[in-house]
Amino acid sequence: MEGAGANLPQPLKQPTGLRWNFPPLGDAARVSCRVNDHAGWSSQPIGWHVADGREHWKSGMEIGPRPDAFLFPERWLNEVKKRMKPLMRSYRDEEDAWRIRNFLREVFLLNGRLDHSWHVGRLDHWRWHFIKTCHLTPPMEQVTTLWETPEGQIAAVLHPLCHDEIRLHVHPHYRTPELEEEMLAYAEEHHFDYLPSGQRILYSPVFSDDTMRQQVQSRRGFEKRAGWAHHWRRDLNEPIPPEQPVPGYVIRSMGDKAEHPARSWASWRAFHAEEPDEAYDNDYSWYRNIQSAPLYRRDLDIVAVTPQDEIAAFCTISYDDYTRSAICELVGTAAEHWQRGLGKAVMLEGMRRLQQLGCTRLFATATEEPADFLYGSLLQTYKLTETWTKVW
Ligand SMILES: CC(C)(COP(=O)(O)OP(=O)(O)OC[C@H]1O[C@@H](n2cnc3c(N)ncnc32)[C@H](O)[C@@H]1OP(=O)(O)O)[C@@H](O)C(=O)NCCC(=O)NCCS
Repeated sequence: MEGAGANLPQPLKQPTGLRWNFPPLGDAARVSCRVNDHAGWSSQPIGWHVADGREHWKSGMEIGPRPDAFLFPERWLNEVKKRMKPLMRSYRDEEDAWRIRNFLREVFLLNGRLDHSWHVGRLDHWRWHFIKTCHLTPPMEQVTTLWETPEGQIAAVLHPLCHDEIRLHVHPHYRTPELEEEMLAYAEEHHFDYLPSGQRILYSPVFSDDTMRQQVQSRRGFEKRAGWAHHWRRDLNEPIPPEQPVPGYVIRSMGDKAEHPARSWASWRAFHAEEPDEAYDNDYSWYRNIQSAPLYRRDLDIVAVTPQDEIAAFCTISYDDYTRSAICELVGTAAEHWQRGLGKAVMLEGMRRLQQLGCTRLFATATEEPADFLYGSLLQTYKLTETWTKVW
């Protein structure tokens, strides 16, 4: 095997053996490899076909865990990327939203199911909660920008999370410093906010091991600041800790809309524990938005309930069966029930149900300590993002 595609995430697992045939790039070049898949060596075209400067990726190939388990020779990969320069375009119509969802799914698999880009459930949560309920940004169609290959394949997507923080989702096959630089330059023009001093500010968090993006951001004048996020995960194809019942509480699925007021109050008591009760606006209509997101299902919206039917804790999970992975979107315990094991109980019930649905990986992201303790007690490992900002 020739060199390694350093810009690609490292493979989780290698097939038993590979022998490569990389013809010199010409008008047309087809890469093929010979695979030893336990049944002996066989010849397989692996799908990179460059003709007329265009690339054709043959999907549906079953060699090893997924195509990106292969290491591409860097010089060859770079040449393909150069010929495939994606072009920016603005969001066109609703069709784009659904294409972006499937783009995120594909990229998630290609990145070995690590959240270098968003899990599809996060995009839904942004759209159905952060935008529809919290109005953190204008509607998706007004703030989302795409980069596409000449053939119309999405290569990257950029949008703000809120008024001054962005997210970049980049397809690993098209990922180059030049593309990310272009995306950041666009973000600096369109997604900044003003500080009281009148200076502009833009946040762009980066994985601590993503040296390429760190270098690009440094070049553009971003600096690392205090602040972190732990992207916890646990593989569910391994045994999970046993159920830990908490006496006096029933763990069950969220009820119908009659339960929205109780659920909304529990959120208030979890996320606004320091605020006086009178500050609560009694508006529980936001929960309808949560429940109308595409991946919402009540059996994965788990609550811990007191004998008086008060909701004491909740764990709302989005499961994507295409990537067989899930995210804990909303987890909380009303302050008067903290540290009794309820956060763990609702998450464990969620994990048990996810296992039965065929889910093999669960994610939860913490940016503060109690949540970090909870996820640390149930999940296995995490990736760290660091906070980077540009002020100008
Ligand atoms: C995070 C939160 C859900 C934890 O709920 P909880 O019901 O108190 O958690 P549990 O009692 O099940 O505790 C789970 C683990 O975290 C630890 N923990 C929880 N709160 C802690 C605290 N304040 N200090 C230290 N450890 C804490 C527990 O000791 C336990 O660890 P262990 O299993 O090693 O003993 C709750 O604090 C909360 O609602 N916070 C505000 C909302 C929030 O941050 N949600 C998460 C992000 S969406």
